[in-house]
Amino acid sequence: MIKIAPSILSADFARLGEEIKAAENAGAHLIHVDVMDGHFVPNITIGPLVVDAIRKVTRLPLDVHLMISDPDKYLKDFISAGADILTVHLEATAHLHRTVQAVKEGGIKAGVSINPATPIWSLDDILGDVDIVLVMSVNPGFGGQEFIPNTIRKLKLLRKKISEAGSPALIEVDGGVKPENAMEIASAGADILVMGSAFFKSADYAATMEKLNGMLGN
Ligand code: DX5
Ligand code: ZN
Repeated sequence: MIKIAPSILSADFARLGEEIKAAENAGAHLIHVDVMDGHFVPNITIGPLVVDAIRKVTRLPLDVHLMISDPDKYLKDFISAGADILTVHLEATAHLHRTVQAVKEGGIKAGVSINPATPIWSLDDILGDVDIVLVMSVNPGFGGQEFIPNTIRKLKLLRKKISEAGSPALIEVDGGVKPENAMEIASAGADILVMGSAFFKSADYAATMEKLNGMLGN
């Protein structure tokens, strides 16, 4: 099954709890939480306090995407706040292996994300340690950007590497994903599709999920 992870970055923040419940009721599989620090990316969003608050309104796994410099400083805070998956950027940490181990020692799933210009081969020596690889299909920082077509080539290469390594790691794709390109992205190897604007700006979340589940053969 290809999972859909609505990104709350495009939700109505004044009604965040309701928005998350609506996504859950519509059949979303995970809730994607974009954490930005105004340093690693040119935008500031939310922190552990918000993760703690939304943990109480949904039973869906919280998929927390840290777009922050020096993520090691905050891993414990996000784990205690209730993250189920914690993904750090390869470009944001000096000792990626140590960071990934620290997340796993916290008893949750560890993800590593790469920016559009970071090659798949840079993951070679961490693939065996991660639960999820998050391939950015836009430059991180903002919702509503266009999907970068080269991502398809990267996904195919990553899928091949993961199969060859016999790794159980899942592939997640984030940025510019919408019903119009979901099938092509899934066919290239993605297991989880993050969807911000295409989900939360749609008129009917349940209809959006139904359409996606239908086309993805879920
Ligand atoms: C971008 C974020 C994404 C973003 C995706 O920096 O990591 O999760 O919310 O938004 P859309 O789906 O609108 O491109
Ligand atoms: Zn994200």
